[in-house]
Amino acid sequence: MSIQIAPSILSADFCNLERDLKAISNADLVHVDVMDHHFVPNLTLGEPIVKRICEVTDLPVDVHLMIEDPDRWAPEFAKCGAQSVTFHMGATHAPVRLARQLREMGVKACFAVRPAEPVEPLFDILEEFDMVLIMTVEPGFGGQKFLDNQMNKVRRLRDEITRRGLDTHIQVDGGVSPKTAHIVAEAGADVLVAGSAVYGAENPAEAIDQIRAQAEA
Ligand code: DX5
Ligand code: ZN
Repeated sequence: MSIQIAPSILSADFCNLERDLKAISNADLVHVDVMDHHFVPNLTLGEPIVKRICEVTDLPVDVHLMIEDPDRWAPEFAKCGAQSVTFHMGATHAPVRLARQLREMGVKACFAVRPAEPVEPLFDILEEFDMVLIMTVEPGFGGQKFLDNQMNKVRRLRDEITRRGLDTHIQVDGGVSPKTAHIVAEAGADVLVAGSAVYGAENPAEAIDQIRAQAEA
């Protein structure tokens, strides 16, 4: 299984975003965290900035919405040029309708579950999604400690995807570093988000290579 590394610009310098996007050209995706001060106690950026990021970077843009009412707003982010849009299951009213709407717009549809949310109730609608995000921290902030108690969830989801012959990606987000990359990959995740481990490093590109090497080890 090929591993994709998705640096989160939450830990980048928001006044030097173009520079910091260029610094991760060896990544597979760029992960953009959208927070609204309601779904999570933090506020980041909205559509105009996501649109500019999509224009400026050569990497596919993976938008992670940590906002209320994604049913209303996710399509607006899809229009910005993102490759994938992830919304939180706990915030959406009609996940299947929203996933179908995103796919009709040519965007990959993904849902996220928080650490205390089970993934099994969503098995019946897995085919509607291109990727599932298992949070390995409580959403809202970068630099938190990796929750290894989420690895059984990743394993159960990987088993289900394999058993049904699906090609759904499993993304993990939170506390991923060269130290934890092997653990998440071994559990079955194939898209690794890393914020502070990439942008907190002296050389972000080297940090990406290290995370990839550990995940593939
Ligand atoms: C947290 C965000 C993450 C965050 C991860 O709610 O969804 O994408 O940037 O940061 P690290 O990798 O520092 O845990
Ligand atoms: Zn994220």
